[in-house]
Amino acid sequence: MRHRAVHWRRPVVRSCRRGARSRMWRDCWARMFRPLVARPSLSAETPALQKVAPKPFGVRRPRDATAIRPLTTSSDSEPGGQGPVSTLSLMPRPVALITGPTSGIGAGYARRYARDGYDLVLVARDVDRLKQLAGELEAGAGRVEVLPADLADPAGREKVAGRLAAGVRVLVNNAGFATSGEFWATDPELLQAQLDVNVTAVMHLTRAALPAMLHGGKGTIINIASVAGMVPGRGSTYSASKAWVISFSEGLAVGLHGTGVGVHAVCPGYVHTEFHTRAGLDMPKLPSFLWLEVDDVVDQSLADIAVGKVISIPGVQYKAIVTAGRMIPRGLARAVTARVGGGRGRT
Ligand SMILES: NC(=O)c1ccc[n+]([C@@H]2O[C@H](COP(=O)([O-])OP(=O)(O)OC[C@H]3O[C@@H](n4cnc5c(N)ncnc54)[C@H](OP(=O)(O)O)[C@@H]3O)[C@@H](O)[C@H]2O)c1
Repeated sequence: MRHRAVHWRRPVVRSCRRGARSRMWRDCWARMFRPLVARPSLSAETPALQKVAPKPFGVRRPRDATAIRPLTTSSDSEPGGQGPVSTLSLMPRPVALITGPTSGIGAGYARRYARDGYDLVLVARDVDRLKQLAGELEAGAGRVEVLPADLADPAGREKVAGRLAAGVRVLVNNAGFATSGEFWATDPELLQAQLDVNVTAVMHLTRAALPAMLHGGKGTIINIASVAGMVPGRGSTYSASKAWVISFSEGLAVGLHGTGVGVHAVCPGYVHTEFHTRAGLDMPKLPSFLWLEVDDVVDQSLADIAVGKVISIPGVQYKAIVTAGRMIPRGLARAVTARVGGGRGRT
C-alpha cells in the first residue's frame, strides 16, 4: 500500500511543478513577445515595403533582373554582398573597369558587363577601337568611359590606377600578350614590355583598386591568366607571367577571405581572338576541339566566380588537361608538353 501511495503522489507533485513552469513561460511570452507579433516593428516591415516601393520620379530602373542584381560579382556570394534586390534600383549603377577590351576576351567581358547593367571604364591603347566599342555599348543603356592608356608605360598605369582609386565594383585585368621567337633572340625591350603589361600592370591596378573595394566591403577582381601558366615547359616569359598571375590571385584571395572582396584567376586555353596573330604565332595544326570561343570563356568564368571559385578553367578539355598534368611527375609533364605542345618558338 505504502509503495502504491508514493507512486500516486509523485505524479501530482510533478504535474503541479510542470503546470507552474508552463504558466511562467506563458506569462513571459505574453509580456515580451506578443506585442511584437501583434504589431510588427518597422524593421520587420521594411523588406516588404522595399519590394513594392513605387519607382521615384526621374529614377531610371535597369532593364532586367540581372541588371538590378549583377550576378557576376563574387561579393554577391560573400558576407559583404548586395542587399535586397529591389533597393538597387535606387542606387548608382556599379562600375566595371576592363583592360584590353578592344578585341578578344576583354571585348567579351565588356559586352557581358554592359548587358548585366554595369557602367564601364575601358582601358587600351587603340583610341578609335575604344570609342567604337563605347558607342556600341552606350546604345545599350549605361555610361561608358574611355580611358586610353599604354599599360607597358608607368604613366599609363598611373592614370588607370588613379581612376581605380576613385572606386569601381569590378576590375578585369585582361590586357596581355605573347610573342613568338626564342627568348635569347627577342628584343629585351619587348620582353620588358610583356612583363610590364602581363605582371606589373596586374599588380599595380589590383593594389590601386583594393582600398576602395575594402572600404565598401564588396568588389571583384578578375585576372586573366592562362592554362599556359599551369603547364610546365610551355614557352618562357609568357607562361611565367601567367604563373605569377595565378599565384598572386590565389594568395590574395586567401588574404581577402571574409572581406566581401574576391580575387579570381581565369585560365583559358586557346581562344579565337587576335592574340596569336598579334604574337606572330601560326596555329594551323591545332585540333579544333582545343579552340574555345570568347563568349564561352566569359560565361563559364563568371559562372565559376559567382559560386566563389578562385581559379576558373573554362572548357572540360582544359580541366582534363590540367588535372592530368597535376597527376603525373613534373618531368614527364614537361616532356609531353615539349612533344605535343610546341614548347619552342614562343616567349
Ligand atoms: N587567346 C588566347 O588563346 C588566350 C589564352 C589564354 C589567355 N589569354 C589571355 O587573355 C587576355 C586577352 O587576350 P586576347 O586573347 O583577348 O588577345 P587580343 O585579342 O590580342 O587582345 C589583347 C588586348 O590587350 C590590349 N593590350 C595589349 N597590350 C596593351 C598595352 N600595352 N596597354 C593596354 N592594353 C594592351 C589590346 O588593346 P590595344 O592593342 O588596343 O592596346 C587588346 O585589347 C590576355 O591576357 C591573354 O594573355 C589569351
